[in-house]
Amino acid sequence: MTIEAELTVQTDDVRTSVGSSHDAALLEFGCDYNPEQWPREVWAEDMRLMREAGVNLVAINIFGWASIQPKESEFDFEALDAIIELLHQNHIGVNLGTGTSSPPPWLSTKHPEILPVVDDGTTRWPGGRQAWCPSSPVFRRYAFALTEAVAIRYGQHPAVKLWHVSNELGCHNAYCFCDVSAGAFRRWLIARYATLDSLNTAWGTAFWSQRYSDWSEILPPRLTLSTSNPTQQLDFDRFSSDELLSYYIGEAEILRRHSSAPVTTNFMVTAHITSQDYWQWAPHVDIVANDHYLDHRLASPLHELSFAADATRGLALGSPWILMEQSVGAVNWQPRNLAKVPGEMMRNSLTHVARGADGVCFFQWRASIQGSEKFHSAMLPHAGEGSEKFSEVLELGAALQALKEIRGSRVVSQVALVFSWEAWWATDLDSRPSEDVRYIDQVHRVYTALWELGVTVDVVQPGADLSAYALVVVPCLYLVTDRQAQVIEDYASSGGHVVVTFFSGIVDEDDRVRLGGYPGAFRELLGVSSEEFQPLAGDESRALSSGARGHVWTEVTSLRGAETVASYESGSLAGRPAVTRNSFGEGVGWYLGTQLDAEGLTQFLATVVAEAGVHAIAPTRGEDVEVVIRRSDDNDYVFVINHGDAEAELPAQGFELLHSSAVDGALTVPPGEVRVVRTAHSPNYDTVS
Ligand code: GAL
Repeated sequence: MTIEAELTVQTDDVRTSVGSSHDAALLEFGCDYNPEQWPREVWAEDMRLMREAGVNLVAINIFGWASIQPKESEFDFEALDAIIELLHQNHIGVNLGTGTSSPPPWLSTKHPEILPVVDDGTTRWPGGRQAWCPSSPVFRRYAFALTEAVAIRYGQHPAVKLWHVSNELGCHNAYCFCDVSAGAFRRWLIARYATLDSLNTAWGTAFWSQRYSDWSEILPPRLTLSTSNPTQQLDFDRFSSDELLSYYIGEAEILRRHSSAPVTTNFMVTAHITSQDYWQWAPHVDIVANDHYLDHRLASPLHELSFAADATRGLALGSPWILMEQSVGAVNWQPRNLAKVPGEMMRNSLTHVARGADGVCFFQWRASIQGSEKFHSAMLPHAGEGSEKFSEVLELGAALQALKEIRGSRVVSQVALVFSWEAWWATDLDSRPSEDVRYIDQVHRVYTALWELGVTVDVVQPGADLSAYALVVVPCLYLVTDRQAQVIEDYASSGGHVVVTFFSGIVDEDDRVRLGGYPGAFRELLGVSSEEFQPLAGDESRALSSGARGHVWTEVTSLRGAETVASYESGSLAGRPAVTRNSFGEGVGWYLGTQLDAEGLTQFLATVVAEAGVHAIAPTRGEDVEVVIRRSDDNDYVFVINHGDAEAELPAQGFELLHSSAVDGALTVPPGEVRVVRTAHSPNYDTVS
């Protein structure tokens, strides 16, 4: 198996993968597997088909609690022993779940106090999954005892290649508003602020008679009649993320006492889950792992997939990561669960690989016949092994084998996008100037424009070292600390090019407005000052002198050293700057004071990219072709993913890995297909994240 010794060594700011001790290091190919849902005769067939597909990493015991501890006083590991042995005999690595993600009915019946309470004070009951309060000491006692029992029993088992703590921590139970959580929140606040005075200052409780005179008066932000205190909400977001992280660390510490296998949990870097600040989590996992599902509720699911993959690589500080879950076809939890067309699953998978994944896994191996996920797609669908879907799974297995030499290589990028879960929480609080400004939309807009220009982006944490990048984009960084803003300013003054979009730099970490003109923290860098936001109504828009249109947002901006790149041509701001450029030290600060239409944004960024000396890997604009380079010591691997209906042709020289063929001068990629060319290092890209 390949993940053996795939320990990740963490230093202060570098997470590096220590290579596998195995002869043939393969990419991971795997799935969640729920054998407890099936009679044992099915297990043998599962092994045969997993081997046929080349599956080498299987996550089990994810929802195992009720099976392995059917009563408080009774452990029954017989079935889990058997399935681990079976996988081992079949040379399939085990990604062993601690089994704690969903408490069994006996536990919530005996201890109903572990059940979560939502913001209106009502309890959420068992009958689904993850019905537990993250702060419950009772839940932790039972869950940690189970973790210890599993760790002791299997910690030295040679089949166990990876530990999978719980499952998607916070997917359903990120926030609990019960009295136990209130106590934990108060303790967290005492640790953060030490004195009530500093809490009162941070929360701005002079407003609306909210001043606290005793810690016991402080509650989680339960449902109020009016809008709630924003800093209280923001701190509750921080607390809630920290609370589940402390839970994760609790399980991880137990596992590490009994096993040397790497420990991880599956993150949810995706547009619809905002609750965990994974910048805080990432240093605590040995291998970064993400779950990603195409979200057809979004304007552009495909670009979101690429963004999520880049963000996951960012969490891994550029090291390879694992796609722990995705779907072969439809999911079951969107309003309309769209199937994937032939080839789409391959393209999705190889997009993740192109963007740094060294493993591709699915939920789940065999489609369930009962339960709320029975219409969720799986590697082995209800139709069985003769299905077209299973053939696609076999093709993917073969493709991953053909790509094995890319393992450990790193993605090449010259552009950083500063991304922040805290800014996400704060931007989307109540009482903002326009509900049309949603953080993740603003991030996706900028990202999509760069994607269309063929520019690969590294997603970085605010405060990260930016010196390796030719360009840094800062979309909607509404909340930013002084230090984080300083890093961006210093980068520009020493020669960097920075793009900041509207509603950035507005508040500090307490959601306190920065005085003296917007965009507060970035005023000097951008050489502008705005005195009023003027969001637009509904589908209103403004003509700009550049020919683009501004939507959603305008503001009353004055130049303070910057030059106007585009001004408003209509509306009450006609003649005032909408887009500006400021020479700052050795570098440049660009400001987008309105939301440009997609075409206008791409054109604007094309100018910026050119001036910053960023090389598009291929001029892919408008062609639906995604091109990303992974680099090893010896080679570049150029991934070309053709999402469009037309053939794509690119200059290339080298060897195409998926079809084992030489490429001499030109690479042709048929519609819907993927090619990966091993080639010499390109002199154009000297930045590898
Ligand atoms: C994930 C979860 C899996 C499965 C999957 C369905 O959120 O971890 O257990 O429910 O979604 O898409």
